Amino acid sequence: MPKVYIKTFGCQMNKHDSSVVLGLLFEAGYEETSDPKSADLILLNTCSVREHAENRAIARANNLIHLKHEKPDLLLGIIGCVAQSKGASILREAPGVDLVVGPDCYRDIPGLLEGLRRSGRSTVLNDIRASEMYGDLKPISMGVCAFLPIMRGCDNFCSYCVVPQTRGRERSRPAEEIVTEVGRLTECGTRDITLIGQNVNSYQDGETDFCGLLRRVDQVAGTTRIRFTTSHPRDFGEDLVATMQECESVCEHVHLPLQSGSSRILELMNRGYGFEDYLRKVEAARRGIEGVAFSTDLLVGFPGETEYDFLLTLSAVVKIGFDFAYMFAYSPRDGTRASTLEGEVPYEIRHERLKRLISTQNRITAEKNRSLVSTVTEVLVEGCSSRKPEEKVGRSRTNKSVVFRGDADPGDLVSVEIEELRGWTPYGRILENRGKGAADVGHL
Ligand code: SAH
Ligand code: SF4
Ligand code: F3S
Repeated sequence: MPKVYIKTFGCQMNKHDSSVVLGLLFEAGYEETSDPKSADLILLNTCSVREHAENRAIARANNLIHLKHEKPDLLLGIIGCVAQSKGASILREAPGVDLVVGPDCYRDIPGLLEGLRRSGRSTVLNDIRASEMYGDLKPISMGVCAFLPIMRGCDNFCSYCVVPQTRGRERSRPAEEIVTEVGRLTECGTRDITLIGQNVNSYQDGETDFCGLLRRVDQVAGTTRIRFTTSHPRDFGEDLVATMQECESVCEHVHLPLQSGSSRILELMNRGYGFEDYLRKVEAARRGIEGVAFSTDLLVGFPGETEYDFLLTLSAVVKIGFDFAYMFAYSPRDGTRASTLEGEVPYEIRHERLKRLISTQNRITAEKNRSLVSTVTEVLVEGCSSRKPEEKVGRSRTNKSVVFRGDADPGDLVSVEIEELRGWTPYGRILENRGKGAADVGHL
């Protein structure tokens, strides 16, 4: 059997897409390998959201090309967002790449591989196919936690972001299909499902909106936890707060990217909200959802960002008190509106601001986690700690990673008494193991 090695960069959507591609290749007679040296086909599923991510993917491709000397039949493919945005120019930057396929064209991969073996000529396919949802393809196998795409694409055109170009227009999967998949995953033992999309709040299949979808999913989820990401602050409303409180399976965690604490910069970013709007939404959610945790994305060094704008971001972070944040220095992307704006912030200043932001947020993350010490938290067991197998790792409903000792298997729900912080990770012991409450984890 030919072997495929696949390496994924980027977001959860890309991770899920890799499992779709593997499913298609299994049907075509491939099996997966974790060792690129033993592979007949190597695929890199790439991300172009920042220059660094893009460069890493191209460098990795150039590193792997030497394997072709020992194995002339080896095929090397670049798929994902870099394939979409760079297309044929990848063949110049990484000569030796055989296949370049964008995110809407994965169904064609087995056929393209056959053609490639016959002709030996490199192939590029990066059409935007507005209707492609891969909804009929079952993911290959799922563990305790699973991602479930409810939509693809993005129509928001934040001025710094390349995703609307690489992923095309926003489209939602039918609610019926999503509900069926949640039921199937739950039966197979998945205990934590994250509904994913670039802006889940604008989910709309013609009949059902996002709140309606959550209510329907909640009815079939049983004891399986439901999460969702990413929420857009502009579309995050009181109705969603009420729905989250009402649906027992929906976890008390919201990932709500703020990006900047300066309303002037938010406007230049085309985000569609100001800082005060954002703050009001967080406060309403904190009143409406007991114990809700907030995480966010923050982007510093956007063109025209002054020291004062940056200080507004720092003070926003302190004021809101995020449980966790992903933080980035702005990276100009071709084809985006921001890349044409004046007032570029020098590289050193962008990175110096990022450092200050990270050190402020790290302190807050530790403080938030410290407040868990001496409390009891419900944790879903995901596995063993890689360094000490007697220690288990899992997540709270508020999406905090917890390490603990005691007898439990992946998929068990346990009550953990948090005793201390190690670094900023809560550490404790199991008080009670409530078991799985569903079938063993299996294959779909
Ligand atoms: N749809 C999601 C995910 C977008 S990409 C959302 O809207 O949040 C994840 C994060 O990458 C963004 O939230 C933003 O903070 C960051 N990002 C996007 N484009 C970027 C760029 N050009 N430079 C640096 N960070 C960027
Ligand atoms: Fe990019 Fe904005 Fe869409 Fe998120 S919402 S993917 S940041 S354009
Ligand atoms: Fe995801 Fe990166 Fe593409 S964030 S959508 S893989 S550009």
